[in-house]
Amino acid sequence: MAAVKITETSLRDGSQSLIATRLKTSEMLPILEKMDDAGFYSMEVWGGATFDTCIRFLNEDPWERLREIRKRIKKTKLQMLLRGQNLVGYRHYADDMVDLFVKKAIENGIDIIRAFDALNDFRNLETSIKAIKKYKGHCQGCIAYATSDIHTINYYVEKVKELEQMNVDSICIKDMSGILLPYDAYTLVKRLKEATKLPIEMHTHCTSGVAQMMYLKAIEAGADIIDTAISPLSGGTSQPATEVFAQILKGREEDPKLDIEVLGEIADYFKPIMETYKKSGILNSKVMDTEPKTLTYQIPGGMLSNLISQLESQKASSKYEAVLKEVPEVRKDLGYPPLVTPMSQMVGTQALFNVMLGVRYKVIPTEIKNYVRGLYGKPPVAISEEIQKKIIGSEIPITEKPSKFLQPEFEKRKEEIGSLAKSDEDVLMYAMFPEYAKKYLENR
Ligand code: CO
Repeated sequence: MAAVKITETSLRDGSQSLIATRLKTSEMLPILEKMDDAGFYSMEVWGGATFDTCIRFLNEDPWERLREIRKRIKKTKLQMLLRGQNLVGYRHYADDMVDLFVKKAIENGIDIIRAFDALNDFRNLETSIKAIKKYKGHCQGCIAYATSDIHTINYYVEKVKELEQMNVDSICIKDMSGILLPYDAYTLVKRLKEATKLPIEMHTHCTSGVAQMMYLKAIEAGADIIDTAISPLSGGTSQPATEVFAQILKGREEDPKLDIEVLGEIADYFKPIMETYKKSGILNSKVMDTEPKTLTYQIPGGMLSNLISQLESQKASSKYEAVLKEVPEVRKDLGYPPLVTPMSQMVGTQALFNVMLGVRYKVIPTEIKNYVRGLYGKPPVAISEEIQKKIIGSEIPITEKPSKFLQPEFEKRKEEIGSLAKSDEDVLMYAMFPEYAKKYLENR
């Protein structure tokens, strides 16, 4: 057994899961040097929803945030979450955008890029992986964890082999729903360690209440790295607390050798900050609940809370159980996509429509139609002809890699935004979030 490495997620996933990604750069900067001293292997600080939220809600430049973090983090690797061909946005971007975005992320300070595709269709990761390697980043290939008849251990072994052939440097098992059970994790990691020499990193959320046990069993089976968040930003729909693993593993071969005193100081720093988010209501107590129903319905915690608020706003809370039961049905109809952004939102919305209207697939959002058209990639299981017909009629879905159909777009966007953009970073921001970025750049 080697020492387990720790990826600290407070500044990205912690903030994203508990307070809708609202943590400000000004709240991060004063504690960064201390965090650099704690002994983390890496810190996940960027990507996912942080980019979007900076521009849309915080009036901040996400690139500037990254540079400011990098200035203060000298020893610890900086990590980001990339949604493959979706970058940090919500649609597929053309290959020229992917290449340049990855280049700029690395130039501005990122060391490790964790890339995932919502369908585990790794054709959607080809361009990102190539770019990460080209610009000398550490490329972590990610497998979204889901359960269904086809999501067997062999499925994950095959997926790891695929990623290995694509030249990734490490593997992440991304359990975005917190549904990976401890004994299953043990078996899974054992098999993956036999199948590959690449480091295996585990990612989960505390939503269902099994996360800490899952990590411990995964560590026993040889997992190399785990994702944790400092206590004030841990638990609930976030990751397990960093301090807990520093203590559990202390003095053992797996000891990550974190400075426990420094961890205490970091926690003390964030406590009052999280207190203000509690008072303002941004930290909703609901996200801190343990929700074992997530294990029954295999629904991520974030999706549960979205469904609750959507039903409340339509005065239809009594339909909650019915919608919960409809989600797995829709997921089955659609070929068992993992419920991760953007699939989680899409499946949730379709389930809601099906229940609210009392007729299944009477109303179908464009995103679901595009998914069935093959524009997101290949569903894990082929969609039945009957469902396909219901959703897109006689149209024939594409079977090639979706980005093949996208024209280069960077130069076009650059022209569009003109002198408002002072750098390629500005243009990328605009190309991904035209409306919000334009507003941001105008007011800068
Ligand atoms: Co996560």
